[in-house]
Amino acid sequence: MSNTILVGAQWGDEGKGKIIDFLTESADLVVRSQGGNNAGHTVLVGGKKYVLHLIPSGILRPGKMCVIGNGVVIDPVAVAGEIDGLLAQKIKVSPKNLLISDCAHVVLPYHRALDEQREFAKGKGKIGTTKRGIGPAYGDKAARVGLRMSDLVQPEIFREKLKRRITDNNAVLKAFGAKPLSYQDVLAAYEAAAAKLAPFVANTVVYLHNALKAGKEVLFEGAQGTFLDIDHGTYPFVTSSNTTAGGACTGSGVPPHRMDRVLGVMKAYTTRVGEGPFPTENAEISDFLHGLGREFGATTGRARRCGWFDAVATRYAGMVNGIDQVAVTNLDGLDSMATIKVCVAYKLGRKKLEVPPSDSDLLAQCVPVYEEHAGWQTPTDQCKTWGDLPKKAQAYLRHIAKLSGAKLKIASVGPNREQTILL
Ligand code: GDP
Ligand code: IMO
Ligand code: MG
Repeated sequence: MSNTILVGAQWGDEGKGKIIDFLTESADLVVRSQGGNNAGHTVLVGGKKYVLHLIPSGILRPGKMCVIGNGVVIDPVAVAGEIDGLLAQKIKVSPKNLLISDCAHVVLPYHRALDEQREFAKGKGKIGTTKRGIGPAYGDKAARVGLRMSDLVQPEIFREKLKRRITDNNAVLKAFGAKPLSYQDVLAAYEAAAAKLAPFVANTVVYLHNALKAGKEVLFEGAQGTFLDIDHGTYPFVTSSNTTAGGACTGSGVPPHRMDRVLGVMKAYTTRVGEGPFPTENAEISDFLHGLGREFGATTGRARRCGWFDAVATRYAGMVNGIDQVAVTNLDGLDSMATIKVCVAYKLGRKKLEVPPSDSDLLAQCVPVYEEHAGWQTPTDQCKTWGDLPKKAQAYLRHIAKLSGAKLKIASVGPNREQTILL
């Protein structure tokens, strides 16, 4: 029996969804504990593509239980739509395989409107958010003026609380010069979603503790990545939750001593979507990968910024999350490269840094120190076992895992479930 926290070791989109789907085969439960529908987790099974935003990627495996924990912020209309989309794709979704925490906070239309207005007001200094209302929703949670799923499913309470919150937020929206929201329209849309979601809403803390007592194996599906963490990321170019391993505990109510290992997911190179410092960013790699039709955001469709593997970043991710093992994805993205660079330190002025500076402005000034590796220049996407991989690819994988301070556990050579090599 072992419980695993899976985290993104970079800036998100590391391929967490694909790895969760793979690992769910041998787990009983998959839990989301933070973030919202800013996440986009892609899974390809049997030639079909699924993009999960709020529902754990484990939902695609029959007989597995999925939980959306208290630390997640939920757009009820979006999650109801996601359930309908999965049902239309013949994936079973019911309270038998999905539960939603009654303590999870609700994302409301004023959160999305404020997200947009604040980004607009920032002009050039914008964060490049997904505009899903994530920042304002977590802001309300911290300010203790949020509505929770338990409010949503109690019609009278919801109506009253919503009215007050819309009045307050319309005043703010007006100050921004934005259109105020109609209470009746919001109420109608949210009451319809509430009716659909009510059977899924439960005290998931109690559910998870009973499952653990019964010896079930739990996978915690991180969203976003280490450098988007509200505390440890490249603030203010971050999301609004704790994307690092600790977030799995606070966001689910499962205590730290029940966690057995932390698995970090990282690409064989680096990507970032949205604004903010990115030391190893490289226009050639971006153009190359975009030319292959790769590295477009699963949630917003934006082109991701791409660059070389940054071991300074992943080493730090190892420290913050306590990463024991790594899964390296998108190895095949480097297949045709003659030379592959790996960033092993930063230069900041005359100083050499082994860890990223906490300050975003300083990180933006860092110049990567690279080592160069000869590429394998052989397709890897058909490789089924470790032995099938070119020797140079094996050496590269071992090397970046070692630089990150963790054991290599999984290598991924394509987006499909089968294109996964377990070591
Ligand atoms: P997540 O947010 O961490 O779940 O990652 P995303 O789904 O947003 O982005 C990862 C992208 O890489 C998706 O398009 C996946 O289908 C794709 N992917 C994952 N692993 C591999 C791999 O090993 N090779 C290739 N070619 N694509 C991969
Ligand atoms: P997954 O789970 C990559 C980024 C946004 C923006 C910043 C803040 O698929 O890895 P937000 O909407 O959260 O306020 O945006 O965070 N971001 C992500 N980038 N993958 C994600 O999720 C992301 N979720 C948010 O682009 O820079
Ligand atoms: Mg993603």
